[in-house]
Amino acid sequence: MSGAPIGVFDSGIGGLSVLRALCGELPGEQFVYYADSAHAPYGERGQAYVAARSHDVAGELLAHHRVKALVVACNTATAAAIEALRAQYPQIPIVGIEPALKPAVQGSRTRRVGVMATRGTLGSARFQALQAMWSVQADVVCQPCDGLAEAIERSVQDAASLQRVETLFARYLQAMGPFGNQAGAIDTLVLGCTHYPLASDILGRLLPEEVRVLEPGASVARQTHRLMRAQSLLSAGAHGGAVLRTSGDAATLAQAARRWLPAPVHPRTTS
Ligand code: DGL
Repeated sequence: MSGAPIGVFDSGIGGLSVLRALCGELPGEQFVYYADSAHAPYGERGQAYVAARSHDVAGELLAHHRVKALVVACNTATAAAIEALRAQYPQIPIVGIEPALKPAVQGSRTRRVGVMATRGTLGSARFQALQAMWSVQADVVCQPCDGLAEAIERSVQDAASLQRVETLFARYLQAMGPFGNQAGAIDTLVLGCTHYPLASDILGRLLPEEVRVLEPGASVARQTHRLMRAQSLLSAGAHGGAVLRTSGDAATLAQAARRWLPAPVHPRTTS
């Protein structure tokens, strides 16, 4: 079993921001990444749809790749389906991802943090319980970012969409603001969608330098490592790699991987 790959999935290319961290944390592992781009974006489609897609994709990764663990590299899918996936596949560890409110609130000096995420994530019972817990200690300003993941997805093949990414980021930051270290301002911003870190250069230009931006890829990778070690599932091999699959356009995924994955990973794309 320890020689089997680890499955990772997202609605599209966003989970590459998590796969990048996983490859760094677990360099001896093989990964199979599934981008469900034909059905993206998940964020504006409703919980039942996202749960059904998550089950189909997880089923595919288990049936065809016999994965030894699953990383749900999508906040929206985690919110909609993680409990049901764990109930259905109790034989493998399943790691999810959710907006990093705990480190955000604990590190905020102004006691005001922002969360950018999809409408699906922010509206879920799972996120609302998390928000209720941390809102006791800080103001948590939530912003649904309709269209942003889709624009990031499109920007891989269409440079004009980069302008749309910038326009949407600017609009949503303005709706949440002000940002900065001064009293009453948001000093910590949580990226609650795995697509957003892929556009962090654009975001960085729009935010004051002192604002802390949290993306959870590294902590998800560490958690995956811990679970695999605890269950003796770590690979004995020294050289890992990634196979990338998609329900959408393989050339787009390959281009995204060249841009966002570290060079030594050598992804192999199949549709
Ligand atoms: N990347 C996904 C997330 O983390 C969702 C993007 C989408 O498909 O709407 O929530």
